[in-house]
Amino acid sequence: SRRLVLDTDTAGDDTQAILLAALSDRVDLEGVTIGAGNVPFDYQVENAKYTLDLAGVAEDVPVYEGARSPLLKDHEFAEYVHGEGGLGGELFPDTGIPSADEHAVDYIVRTARENPGEITVACIAPLTNLALAFQREPDLPDLLADVWIMGGAVNTLGNFTPAAEYNFWVDPDAARIVLEAFETTLVDWGVTVRDSLFDESVFAEVAEIDTPLAEFFTTITDAVREFNAESEHDALGADVTTQPDSMTLATLLEPDIVEEAGTYYVEVDDREGMTRGYSLVDELGIGDGEAKTRVVESVDGDRFER
Ligand code: BDR
Ligand code: CA
Repeated sequence: SRRLVLDTDTAGDDTQAILLAALSDRVDLEGVTIGAGNVPFDYQVENAKYTLDLAGVAEDVPVYEGARSPLLKDHEFAEYVHGEGGLGGELFPDTGIPSADEHAVDYIVRTARENPGEITVACIAPLTNLALAFQREPDLPDLLADVWIMGGAVNTLGNFTPAAEYNFWVDPDAARIVLEAFETTLVDWGVTVRDSLFDESVFAEVAEIDTPLAEFFTTITDAVREFNAESEHDALGADVTTQPDSMTLATLLEPDIVEEAGTYYVEVDDREGMTRGYSLVDELGIGDGEAKTRVVESVDGDRFER
């Protein structure tokens, strides 16, 4: 099975991605790295540990603390989506588990060098850590087996600004560097909204299951459900949740749930202003950029739900 490092800004949906990675036998989750994102950094670290503990793997999967802010831009949190602390507003008790005593960026570089062609990195957060690792080790694109990314809004509406999805908006400089340097698979906000919605029927089914994991799911989706219900968006303005991060992991674990994908040149706008974080996809191939981003365009939503 694949050896995986998961880079996350653990709040709501990130936890589900961690659980998928930790519990699946298709990957060996070797490390979790944390970068600046959804909620204040220490919450994210603790949320990741709590989730790994819930999955029963906290002893085998170290948590590495990484960048506490984007490369160049001022940072903004998304607590208004995920609730204070990032897990639906409930503050869970500290696990007391220590973090690894190596910086996330050092860890990514070291494990890639020690295991050339072996390690897949899945990024479900702003791309600061991977961009820094690339600055440190320019051969990183050759050293890694694969890179999977949740981010961007491909020719569609954003979620943080009209033009941009949160992960790319927060650190557009890093997103630009990473998409330029690496061949990646990209799961954007658009396909998430099209194919990953969970609605009341799923929540009801989960509520029937009497396990700590099911209860955890209900707690962490609470804030997002409320947030979406207020949305003016056609698809989101109801009691639904989106699963961007876990859907990204699902496409990695079970590649044939991807129904359509195309490989394009994708460029991220790193300028301040209205289009900060915008992901421009050269669908027609009329620019000069090299097509190296595999954009997931459609996913089998029913199979994802299972
Ligand atoms: C992304 O931002 C975070 O809120 C989610 O976890 C996901 O990674 C969606 O824009
Ligand atoms: Ca995330």
